[in-house]
Amino acid sequence: MKTNVNLQPYNSFGFNATAKYFVEINDANDLQRLIRTPEFKQEKHLILSGGNNILLTQEYFDGLVILMNNKGIKTVADDGNNIIVRAQAGEDWPEFVKLMVSKGYYGVENLAHIPGKVGAAPVQNIGAYGMELKDSFLKCEAIHLETGKKRVFDNKECCFGYRQSIFKGMLRGQYVITSVEFQLKKQTDLKLDYGNIKAYLAEHGMEQPTLQQLHDAICAIRDAKLPDVKKIGNAGSFFKNPVVKLEQFEALKQQYPNMPHYDEPDGRVKIPAGWLIEQAGWKGWHDDHVGVYEKQALVLVHLGGGTGRDIVELSQKIQQSVEEKFGIKISPEVNFIQ
Ligand code: EPU
Repeated sequence: MKTNVNLQPYNSFGFNATAKYFVEINDANDLQRLIRTPEFKQEKHLILSGGNNILLTQEYFDGLVILMNNKGIKTVADDGNNIIVRAQAGEDWPEFVKLMVSKGYYGVENLAHIPGKVGAAPVQNIGAYGMELKDSFLKCEAIHLETGKKRVFDNKECCFGYRQSIFKGMLRGQYVITSVEFQLKKQTDLKLDYGNIKAYLAEHGMEQPTLQQLHDAICAIRDAKLPDVKKIGNAGSFFKNPVVKLEQFEALKQQYPNMPHYDEPDGRVKIPAGWLIEQAGWKGWHDDHVGVYEKQALVLVHLGGGTGRDIVELSQKIQQSVEEKFGIKISPEVNFIQ
């Protein structure tokens, strides 16, 4: 266990914050041992995965940071068509997707290039281009932070929703995911219907892409729209896309006939927060330290020399102006760490 560790390399916004205690987990058993230590029992804790979806709001974390870094990817079943692959929580998500694609396994390709680690993917049910983690998730193993006991959660038990799961909901802060099993397929089954995928493929002469071509196209589409965390601090989409009642949508549609929208299965309508933020005039806004990415208004960026508080303040101003203009409350997707 280390003390006074700077968390700057461990959060994709790149904010400086000192952790009182810091420990790296390389094996699920390490975590079970850690749970029995006095430091663990006395201190508040922060489970850190890729650090791609957190906002460190303070410059000192008065507690114990636990970095999940356990590795390993293994095929556990293969009947010729269906395949089950287990990945340890500390594996890099985009590398995992790349590996599955290179083996010809279908099921996670649209989630290519999403920064983060395997263990965090189910927590917020990562999603992109018409696919969500829950579509290929079979089960995961997790450790209870009070008892140290292992528990397996199947797909249903995770209560997945849009950027939501039981690990963010009812069981928030109680379990740490140590490994995930995915149910993948060997037959062609590509999802090309989402927004600009087809247009991009057509433009590049790939109406019927291979698995690898689709993966590479998604990486290119993301690269064109989202800032590279290695160059500009950010946490991907900062807000969730709000879902409004049909009546509210219809009233707005009168005023903004070009407003993009997606119908929800329950009759409500999802409106892209990026569009609302852009319409409210924020796209490309920045001061010396933080701003709103010029190519995708849903992404808040750290330009250097800023603090988590700068992002908190900016996000509140954006929420306020979107609410004033549209009467819609948008809420953060990113987790605020106190
Ligand atoms: N739009 C604007 N202005 C903007 C951004 C978007 O008008 O600045 C409009 C676009 O023109 C489009 C619509 O909003 O009509 C939707 O935009 P986009 O396809 O870029 O997707 P999104 O809803 O903004 C969601 C996810 C992303 C994911 C993409 C692609 C959420 C909160 N975000 O963004 O996820 O990559 O779809 O599937 O659901 C993430 O969670 O970190 C993330 C990047």
